[in-house]
Amino acid sequence: MTTTPPLDVYLQPEQLRAALRKDAGAGLTSNPKWLPPKYFYDAHGSELFEQITELPEYFPTRTERELLRRFSGEIADVASPEILVELGSGSSEKTRLLLDAGTGHGTLHTYVPQDVSVSALEGAAEQIGAEFPNLTVRGVVSDFTESLHHLPRGGRRMIAFLGGTLGNLVPAERAEFLSRIADVLETGEHLLLGVGLVTDPAVLVPAYDDAAGVTAKFNLNVLRVLNAQLGADFPLENFRHVALWDADNEWIEMRLEAACAISVRIEELDLDIEFSAGEQLRTEISAKFTLEGIRKELTDAGFGIERTWRDPDERFALVCAARN
Ligand code: SAH
Ligand code: TRP
Repeated sequence: MTTTPPLDVYLQPEQLRAALRKDAGAGLTSNPKWLPPKYFYDAHGSELFEQITELPEYFPTRTERELLRRFSGEIADVASPEILVELGSGSSEKTRLLLDAGTGHGTLHTYVPQDVSVSALEGAAEQIGAEFPNLTVRGVVSDFTESLHHLPRGGRRMIAFLGGTLGNLVPAERAEFLSRIADVLETGEHLLLGVGLVTDPAVLVPAYDDAAGVTAKFNLNVLRVLNAQLGADFPLENFRHVALWDADNEWIEMRLEAACAISVRIEELDLDIEFSAGEQLRTEISAKFTLEGIRKELTDAGFGIERTWRDPDERFALVCAARN
């Protein structure tokens, strides 16, 4: 019989709802209107994201998986982790490759997946626990943009942050986030980053605007979350998914465009908001990096780069850095 591994909850559903009330109140009354990305990932959103990872246009997941398949052994040699902490772990699907290499290396004894999404964590922790009986698995429900001081100690750690999720933060947030990671690590402990690289917009844009419309559904899901959590009445059918490449900022920007003039009531905020026809709500960025750029961000945060690996098309990179 398999038992479900324990989850440590540092973010209660009520706290997430309070944060959503505050962020939605601020973002939807700004000009331009915006929403922060972490609210995409309710159970339905996490499921839609898993579908995105399997789309033919969405190359980041399979490119990163191939890098992990080829280089997890080298990563384990460089970092010799005893504890692998993974931030924003989602389904932990690609992480198995790191877990295989770490246990094969003989050092890894504990895996700590961390996410805001309880549904994603429960499924992942249970499956990994069953597949790796010699590994201690302890899921953490928390917001990685808040304190990271609850992360475990008691062995040499590697923090993995995969999937290009670093690019969902704007530069100032990234600097703060990377410094916080540096704060919780000891000298010589490692950070493994998976980041998308700046590449041809003709390849990048379809990855965020697929023909089957799954990414559109995922983007629109944030309005479903607002409807369900805050008693709002966003008419989803009147919003259109937009993904564009911002060449100056080197990021993909996701927006939701009002097809016509729309009034929305958000009952729990006692707030009425107006969209003009064609008005766009900003929902997400996905920044892409150059190796020099990510090297500088890591150096500024107190890390030294030990190794980088890229796929042959140079669309994605794994970067292994050590805390100075
Ligand atoms: N690492 C996985 C999933 C990437 S999608 C992969 O590479 O496929 C981004 C993940 O980060 C989702 O699982 C989402 O729930 C989580 N996430 C987003 N914002 C977060 C936050 N502020 N704190 C914790 N997890 C967050
Ligand atoms: N971390 C993923 C990325 O930036 C998240 C993602 C993929 C995403 N597709 C999306 C976020 C569409 C919002 C909308 O690649």
